[in-house]
Amino acid sequence: MQLVTTKPGIIVAENDREIAETSRQEIQSIIGSFPECYVELGSGSGMHLIRLADRSPQALCIGLEIRFKRAFKTGEKAEGKSLENVRVLRTDARQIRHLFTPGQVSAFFINYPDPWDKRRWRKNRLINAELIQTMWELLKPGGFFRYQTDHQEYFASTCPLLNPAQWDIQRHTTDLLQSPYMESNIPTEFEMLFKSQGKPLCLVEAVKRN
Ligand SMILES: C[S@@+](CC[C@H](N)C(=O)[O-])C[C@H]1O[C@@H](n2cnc3c(N)ncnc32)[C@H](O)[C@@H]1O
Repeated sequence: MQLVTTKPGIIVAENDREIAETSRQEIQSIIGSFPECYVELGSGSGMHLIRLADRSPQALCIGLEIRFKRAFKTGEKAEGKSLENVRVLRTDARQIRHLFTPGQVSAFFINYPDPWDKRRWRKNRLINAELIQTMWELLKPGGFFRYQTDHQEYFASTCPLLNPAQWDIQRHTTDLLQSPYMESNIPTEFEMLFKSQGKPLCLVEAVKRN
């Protein structure tokens, strides 16, 4: 396991399958220095993560991205803006259980995950019942999960997985661009693309019940 460092402190873990103990320890050693911890799964080239970090200096903002180049670009952007509250791991986001302890995370973000359109590919989708349960366990009470997508079917099949006994749905729209939520929206690279194609965008925000 090799760590590629864009600058001391912003780490890009060179391993796409599992989270190494060194990365886990590094994250755990700084997480307590911030009142909040925000985690983005599949953070791409980092447009959302970087703006989120810029807007939320109180939060440690961690991006998990499986593609090295995108993870590295995110590190470079953080470095360019001298952001001290960004960490990027090049790893499989489904490994979050090995990175965080229960109740440690304030918010999870999943923006425009790969849709794996064909029925036989659906097992590859990032979001499933198991991931939602894991996020619920890792969130602190009152913490939230925010999911955005252009894919209506992926959205429609994900929302019922948010058990009302565990989650309080605070935001839900299948037309984000026309919704009041746009006011506080942080765009992503893929959102800009889908917007330019005139696609309707969906958003759900679910808060962990106490
Ligand atoms: C469609 S792109 C969206 C990127 C970004 N969230 C955005 O909205 O611009 C999906 C991203 O998720 C990443 N990804 C897919 N599966 C992943 C996984 N299991 N773990 C981490 N990243 C993953 C892809 O490499 C890609 O960068």
